[in-house]
Amino acid sequence: MGMKWMLVLVTLGLLLGLSSGAKKKTCDKGWECKGSIYCCNDTISDFFQAYQFENLFSKRNAPVAHAVGFWDYKSFILASTQYQPLGFGTSGGKKMQMKEVSAFLSHVGSKTSFFCKRLCFPHDGICTARGPPLPVCSLRLHLSLTEVQRPICNQTASLILLYSFENLQGLEWGRNVWVQCGDRRSICLGPLYNHEMSPSQSYCDPNYLYPCAPGVDYYGRGAIPVYWNYNYGRIGDALKVDILNHPEYLEQNATLAFMAAMHEWMTPKKKNQPSAHDAYVGNWKPTKNDTLSKRLPGLGITMNILYGDQVCGQGSVDSMNNIVSHNLYYLDLMGVGQQYSGENLDCAEQVPFNPSVKSATS
Ligand SMILES: *[C@@H]1O[C@H](CO)[C@@H](O)[C@H](O)[C@H]1NC(C)=O
Ligand SMILES: *[C@@H]1O[C@H](CO)[C@@H](O)[C@H](O)[C@H]1NC(C)=O
Ligand SMILES: *[C@@H]1O[C@H](CO)[C@@H](O)[C@H](O)[C@H]1NC(C)=O
Ligand SMILES: *[C@@H]1O[C@H](CO)[C@@H](O)[C@H](O)[C@H]1NC(C)=O
Repeated sequence: MGMKWMLVLVTLGLLLGLSSGAKKKTCDKGWECKGSIYCCNDTISDFFQAYQFENLFSKRNAPVAHAVGFWDYKSFILASTQYQPLGFGTSGGKKMQMKEVSAFLSHVGSKTSFFCKRLCFPHDGICTARGPPLPVCSLRLHLSLTEVQRPICNQTASLILLYSFENLQGLEWGRNVWVQCGDRRSICLGPLYNHEMSPSQSYCDPNYLYPCAPGVDYYGRGAIPVYWNYNYGRIGDALKVDILNHPEYLEQNATLAFMAAMHEWMTPKKKNQPSAHDAYVGNWKPTKNDTLSKRLPGLGITMNILYGDQVCGQGSVDSMNNIVSHNLYYLDLMGVGQQYSGENLDCAEQVPFNPSVKSATS
């Protein structure tokens, strides 16, 4: 009886496999995309070129950036050759392809720039965070024409000045200026870093599968920062690179850093959950439960998948707004236009997919 069913299933499987195999022809597009139906259409370098990467990541080599010379176009494309055949940036037609690249990079840009949130603690010098509490986090700066060009307060503060020049130009220098960090206009453009700046802990969890290497810290590193030994171990297994014992590879090798981020983008966190990729490009159909939890396709769901309750279901928080801001800006720069950013851009009201195991936000 069991055998009989097995036979039927196997035959069915074969038939299905054969028929679908016969229909779908695979293509090779040079070294960039090989042996997949996704390689038959445009590939990423067809619609996203080096000069556009430079535009998006224009501040990456600025003096204030910590990872000068690190993030580059070649590394991005090299990393993507592993994932384009799986549909990364090659799914759903040209507009969707551009949107997916923009969405992915907006996570990278946001996560590797500094967190505006950090500015909103009182500190010494000229900057203070005094004043009435605003709905979004804010910082009061005293500016004068002569002071504008040089670092004011500490580096963190000078960063936001640099990145909000465009937005401040309409204001009168020498007055108190409110820089609203959570405001979409005062975007802190990344990427600037390739690792966490002031780790508060070593992110080592006693873990039998992926024990911490002695003397090694597992703070956030990479394009979408990886935290904790078990994540380094898991991603290292997938990429076949020993980042559990050598987490520093992620801040030394931009190709690897992008690959780790793309792997996370393409892989569901749990069974029965979509990958960020599938959820974004429309390969995923929300269940009734998802709909009730306000989890719908869009940029917001990618944050839900990647960061869960650290970013989502918390209302209008900076960590979320920062990604949205990057996305709108990048869509404009790529020529798609932010009016095509789509529905469900944020995840303010979404029920998080997974509770965080450890609070790994910085
Ligand atoms: C290739 O492009 C066509 C036309 O735009 C589209 O219908 C098809 O879905 C694309 N193939 C893939 C694998 O995305
Ligand atoms: C800069 O200011 C921020 C915000 O108050 C503070 O957290 C940080 O420690 C300061 N950095 C330095 C190097 O003083
Ligand atoms: C960076 O990592 C990639 C992927 O593992 C590898 O192919 C490449 O050789 C590395 N580059 C350097 C300079 O180590
Ligand atoms: C629906 O969501 C609730 C709460 O998030 C969960 O407990 C339940 O198991 C889910 N049901 C299904 C069928 O996934």
